[in-house]
This record gives sequence, C-alpha cells and structure tokens, in this order.
Amino acid sequence: MTTLPAAQALSAASSRPEYEAALQLLRDASRTYYGDGDSVLDDVSYDQLRRSVQAWEQEHPAEVSPDSPTGLVADGAAPVGDVAHTTRLLSLDNVFDAEGLVAWGVSVERRLGRSPKGGFTVEPKIDGAAVAARYRSGRLVQIITRGDGSHGEDISHVIGQIDGLPEQLTEPVTIEVRGEVAFTQAQFETANEVRAAHNAQVFANPRNGTAGTLRAKDRPYRLRMTFWAYGAVELDAVAYLPAGATHAETLAAVAAVGIQTTADSAAGLHVVADLVAAQGQVDAIAAMRAELPVGIDGVVIKMNDAAEQAAAGFGSRFPHWAIAVKLAAVERQTVLEDVVWQVGRTGVLAPTAILTPVEIDGSTVTRATLHNPADIRRRDLHIGDTVTVYKAGDIIPRVQGAVVQLRPAGALEVPLPEACPNCDGKINKAQERWRCAQGSACALPALIQYAAGRDMLDIDGLGPASVAALVASGDVADVADLFTLTAEQLTAASGSAKLAAKLAEQIEAAKALPLSRVFCALGVLGTGRSMSRRIARHFGKMEDIRQADAAALQDVEGIGPEKAPVIVEQVAALAPVIDKLIAAGVNMEEPQETSAGEGAGPLTGKVVVVTGKMTGVLAAYARSEMNALIERAGGRAGSSVNAKTSILVAAPSAGGKPSSKAVKAAELGVEVRTPEDFAEMVADYLA
Ligand code: IVH
Repeated sequence: MTTLPAAQALSAASSRPEYEAALQLLRDASRTYYGDGDSVLDDVSYDQLRRSVQAWEQEHPAEVSPDSPTGLVADGAAPVGDVAHTTRLLSLDNVFDAEGLVAWGVSVERRLGRSPKGGFTVEPKIDGAAVAARYRSGRLVQIITRGDGSHGEDISHVIGQIDGLPEQLTEPVTIEVRGEVAFTQAQFETANEVRAAHNAQVFANPRNGTAGTLRAKDRPYRLRMTFWAYGAVELDAVAYLPAGATHAETLAAVAAVGIQTTADSAAGLHVVADLVAAQGQVDAIAAMRAELPVGIDGVVIKMNDAAEQAAAGFGSRFPHWAIAVKLAAVERQTVLEDVVWQVGRTGVLAPTAILTPVEIDGSTVTRATLHNPADIRRRDLHIGDTVTVYKAGDIIPRVQGAVVQLRPAGALEVPLPEACPNCDGKINKAQERWRCAQGSACALPALIQYAAGRDMLDIDGLGPASVAALVASGDVADVADLFTLTAEQLTAASGSAKLAAKLAEQIEAAKALPLSRVFCALGVLGTGRSMSRRIARHFGKMEDIRQADAAALQDVEGIGPEKAPVIVEQVAALAPVIDKLIAAGVNMEEPQETSAGEGAGPLTGKVVVVTGKMTGVLAAYARSEMNALIERAGGRAGSSVNAKTSILVAAPSAGGKPSSKAVKAAELGVEVRTPEDFAEMVADYLA
C-alpha cells in the first residue's frame, strides 16, 4: 500500500489530481485505521485531509468521485460482513466545545417543541471499536462488528477474550448489548509484549490494533481487551428491559446481569438536569482523561428519557438525541530523532526520546519519556521511526509505539548504552531498569558537590575527597544526610577534627539559608540558581512547591508546559529527601522582600544582562550574585543581549575593543551602564 508522510495530508486539495491523491491517502489511512494495522496518519492529520477533501467536493459537486469515502459510515473502510444488525448501529454527531453543545441543545428543543424534561446523561466516549454482543438465555452466543452499520462481521471467535463481556450472565436473559471494545493502557502494554515475543509487529497505540485483534482468527496467541456497554436493544422480540426505561436504567439493567457498562468506567455515567450541568461533567471527565485506564476521545451526552429520545428521532447516520463533545487530540505522530540517557540520583539509567517538535493539544512537544531498555525493545523502536506520542493534561509526554509501516529503510534499533553514560563504568542489567554498577555512588558525588556549592548550601570546606569518602562509607546517600552527620563521620571523611569542626559549623549555618538555596541544592532538572529563586519567591514555602501541580508551576516565569510536569515529578520523587531536610531543621521558607516588596524595585519589568568584570562596590560580586541582586531589585537576569534586554551592565572597555555584547546593545539601542552607575541604581538592594 502507499504510505505517505503525515505532512502531505496538510496540503489542501486544490486540483483534480491532488483531490484524487488525497482520496487515495484517505482510503489507505482509514483502511489501516479500521483494518488490521496501524494508522498511517494521526487523527489530526486525518481530519485535516478529510476536511480538505470535503471542501473540494463542495466546490466541485459535479466532479465528486462516485466512490468517495466521505459520505460513508466509517469512511467506507470498515470491513462489512454478512450478519444483519437487529437495528442499525449508528454513529454520533460531534461538537467541539461548549458553544457547540449549547447549539445542539437548541436543535433538540426545536425538535421536541419544548425543552427536554427527562434530563441528560454524560458518559465517556471510549476510543475503540463498536460491537454488538448477543446473549441468548444468559449465554454470549455472537459478537458482531459495526461494519457499515446495517451489516457487520461475525467475530464470535473472540468470545472469552474480552473483560466486561462475560460468556455467562448471572441471569438467563436474552438481549443484545452494544458498546466499545478497547485495549486498556495496561492491556496494550501486555499485548505488545506478547506480539514482540511472537515477532509480530507491535501496535503503535492502544486504539490501533483493536479492530485487527477483533477480526484475527489464526493468531497463535490471544490478547485481552475490555468492553464497556453504552446501549442495549431487544433480541428475538424478548423484552428484558422494562418498557420506557431511561438510558441510565438501561445501562443499570445491563450491569445487573454482569456486563460492564460506561457507568462502571472510572469516568462514570452522570445523570444531570440540563446542559449547563452536562457541560460541568464534560469538563470533569476531560480533566481526568490523563489518569483514565483507557483512552477516550470525547464525552457523550444523551437525552435520558426514552419517550423524548423517540420524539427527537434519528438522522441517517446518527441519533438526534445524542451528541459527542470531542476532546482535543492528545496523540500525534512525529519522528524519533534520538534517545539520550541520564543517570539519576540512585544510579538508574533513564532514557528520554528526542522528537521532531510536534504540537499536541496546544503545546510543543520535543521530548518524551521512555522507561527502560526492555520497554524500548518491546516497543520495537528504531531511530528515525515515526512514533505515536501521547500527552494529556499536565502529564509528561510518552512514546506509545512505532508506526512500523513508515520505518525508513535501514533504520537501526535504538542503541542501548554499553557503559554508564555518566562514569563510563559497568552497567548492572539485573533488572528491567538498568543501573550504573556503582549505584548511587555514580551520580551522587557530583550532586553532593553541587549542593555544597557557594550558591547553594555554601559548605566550602567540603572538597571532592571528603564527598567521595562520605558517599563511599554510605554516610551520605542524599543531600539531606549532610545535615545529620556526626563529628566522627565528618572527621573520618575530612581527615582532621579541625576541618570537621569547620564543616559542622558551615552545615549548621546552611540550615538557615533561604528556601531558594535549599531548593536549588536538590538538583531538580531545569531548576538552576535563577529558576530556583523564581520558584522559591513565587511559592514562598517548600510545602507550597510540593503541593503545586504542573498548571500552578507554569505561573512561574520561564516554566512552560514541557518543564512543569518534569519538575512536579522530580519534586514528588524527592519527597523522602525533603522530609529528611525538614526533620533536620533546615529552613523551608523564602524570606519576604523587606524593602520594596516583590516586583516593586527599581528594575521592575526590566531584563538586565551583565558582561565583563565588575568594578567598584560590585567588584566582589560573582555572576550568580549579580543575578540575585538583579532579582532582588525586581528585575530579571538575562544571558544574552536581544530585543528584550533593558539594561546592559558593562565596564567601559579600557582602550580596547568594546565587547560583542556592548556592540549588540549599541545596535539595538539598549541602555548601557557602568557597574558603578548600576550599583547606585540598586544601592538599596546591595547585600
Ligand atoms: S452511543 C445510537 N456512547 O463512538 C448511539 N457511542 O463516534 C450510538 N462510542 O459509533 C453510540 N463510547 O462506537 C455511544 N459512550 C458511548 C460511546 C460511543 C464510544 C463510539 C461508538 C460510536 C462512535 C461514534
């Protein structure tokens, strides 16, 4: 089959040949989507292509291809079988936001001639494949795919393979239930493990492969899936459901005999009086999306009352009494450019995927987590692969899998490290998560040395030899251990009682340092000196930093949607260390500005760049101290001169050439001040 890069889907069909090429790509993509393999386009690209085809068809009605997929159920791509459905299996109309839902409400009122009295239900729209399951006298006798809505394929061979769809009900009822089958995230992971073990192509994401797995008859292995019922109809004219049952009562009756329904899902089924309340539940379900064990692509709202449903009626493709509020796509395809490895505090080797930047739900994703070497192999990842990346809400983006059909020729498997990327030493591969054979002794000395640095805990008596000794003896396994060292331990590590006494004094003094210094000492990725100061100033207390979610962290200047969840995760992982610091009596608060108060100093709103050697009263100020001074005075320290720079602090060049920063500042008309001038400006803030 033809496989075209997703980017091609973005060009609008503007000529007949382009229209035909777009139709072909649309057919290929929907065939792989509904058929046996991974989709060669992500949903966003597919929708864009579909819209451009529809736009062309509207403008050129006479030239619409007779077999255009746009007017067909499932774009005509779902394999149609020979089992007639009891009543048509319909699809859902979509809206994309709160206004769309209000507009749907208006159309409902128009159809009923009044506002509905029976209320609405709100439930998740599970992202899988629709099936009808027939039970006769309590026994599951047949499962049928949706097909074209009037006929589907018999897939009864999957009976016994689907959680939530028991072979035997608790009562001998005859009924047809309808619902969605999908892989939960956990089932997807297992499915790919099993597929990899059988040398079968792994699935790119939980949804891809559901349709194929349902139809597969002769696989040497079976993959478990899960079913959630969202409706039921009468079978063989046997009435099990009470006449006039509401939607909520129908699902409750189905659940009562042992079938899982959307009401049993973590998102639940909610009965509400009106669409304002419905929108509230839509927002609540959308907010829990990242934590749900199964993928959802929307929230479905239905009129609850059977008589009102009947009055609203059906269109040719969907009921007028139900609507899907679609949620933003949280998965895109992009290219895996590289994998980098970092050694964590405990010596664990953590891989990160470097991706071609891709926009997912309003933010640009450039990196994603991978778990461990076995996981990389299970997902069969190769450098240069087109991969599916999932990011919802504030979670760290994750690579789901590779779209194997789009693999470039000659692509190599992701290389696994042969030596520790930090110390070049041996790797301990005993567990799935590889570790440096040195364990915490690999990355820990550097971290402790960093924490003891002048701008962090300022324990300058702690040299590399002492740090190495403390780590080697096991006396220091994290930063907090520094605060509980005994005189004996310090003497043993430093080699002298005198040095030990000095160290003890410095450690004692460090307990009173501002939160910004202590936080910086933790070595959280992406939080150097300036960022730690901004975080500490913003939150004021360690407890508030710990409570902050990714959204709250993004209120700190310089923290975007990519950095925020990483900081949240690392702060959470450091909980035991922070608890130990608290127990040791280390200060956990940032002193409030005494003079002018936050942001109200002479540099408020100004970005200040410092270059060259400082002179006068500032001569002794290291660069980090200059940055701290700038921030105390309400400004922000910049590192390069650009259009946003307000002031450049530079000593006049002593007869020689002006610095490149000074030249740039002159070009851009940025104010340049001597260190003396600047010192006067911020005189109230000098330490
Ligand atoms: S109701 C007559 N409820 O979404 C009512 N559909 O895009 C038809 N789906 O074809 C469907 N979760 O396969 C309904 N809670 C839910 C659903 C749901 C997933 C699927 C279903 C439908 C498709 C429409």
